[in-house]
Amino acid sequence: MSYLDIDNLSVTLPHGQGYRHVVKGVSLTLNKGEILGIVGESGSGKTMTCSALLSLLPAGAHRTADRLQLDSLDLTSVSPASVRGRLISMISQDPAAALNPVFTIQAHIDAVLKQHTDKNRHNRRTAVLELLDAVGLPDPLRVSKRYPHQLSGGMQQRAVIAMALSAGAQVLIADEPTTALDVSVQAKILDLLQSLRHNLALSVLLVSHDLAVIAQVCDRVVVMLNGEIVETGTVQSVIQAPHHPYTKALLAASPARHQRGNPLPTVASSYLNSGFDHD
Ligand SMILES: Nc1ncnc2c1ncn2[C@@H]1O[C@H](COP(=O)(O)OP(=O)(O)OP(=O)(O)O)[C@@H](O)[C@H]1O
Ligand SMILES: [Mg+2]
Repeated sequence: MSYLDIDNLSVTLPHGQGYRHVVKGVSLTLNKGEILGIVGESGSGKTMTCSALLSLLPAGAHRTADRLQLDSLDLTSVSPASVRGRLISMISQDPAAALNPVFTIQAHIDAVLKQHTDKNRHNRRTAVLELLDAVGLPDPLRVSKRYPHQLSGGMQQRAVIAMALSAGAQVLIADEPTTALDVSVQAKILDLLQSLRHNLALSVLLVSHDLAVIAQVCDRVVVMLNGEIVETGTVQSVIQAPHHPYTKALLAASPARHQRGNPLPTVASSYLNSGFDHD
């Protein structure tokens, strides 16, 4: 059985006098220790799908689902506060925004441990250092005393991942976690996600608009377009034999498929060439 099981998830947002359907019947599963990619163009509903799991939707949003289940727990029947951080955590592309500039890294993680565990001060201190070590930060003691602005973007993202895992979440939603980082740092954060899934059996939903990122770390991928999943499969099968015209267009626009020196096609121009009708 899948660890996370989402069946027929829909989200509507208020729009003018009515509503707009931004997630339309999304069904997906995530196994323990698996990294599932969600790829799709801007506005296709990737973030809304993830936010719906944590009940972090904009005001007035309405969520429905036939099933939202984590292990044997029905996520629709428990309070959002008991899910966030404890069962599922979410990180985004801007680690600085997740950190408060006036608190040290130690204080950030300590606050989460205080809220979610009954560890005493000494044990929390030890736990902070262990978490910083687990996310590959060198010299955890030194890093723990730093303020966010004293760390590089990559180190900040590692600290945010440590914070996200500190209350025991077994599912990490990483929404474009490397988009704001330079390429060499991106690869290291992706390596970290790989090692966390191996070492902690962490399950990861990795949102990206970059198929090269998905190809590097994911086992399976779902492709979203206009709030719907239009294609799903193993990364290998989707890349080698895409079915949906949008996936084909996305692949055609992926730098990995193109030789250096040639201009990159845009997805939009590939649509036109393939005759795909984008509504
Ligand atoms: N806070 C919000 N209020 C109103 N509409 C929103 C809000 N956030 C997103 N939307 C709309 O919901 C739809 C889905 O957006 P979503 O953020 O899930 O897209 P996405 O696939 O994550 O895009 P991106 O790649 O740009 O992050 C879009 O049409 C978007 O305009
Ligand atoms: Mg998004």
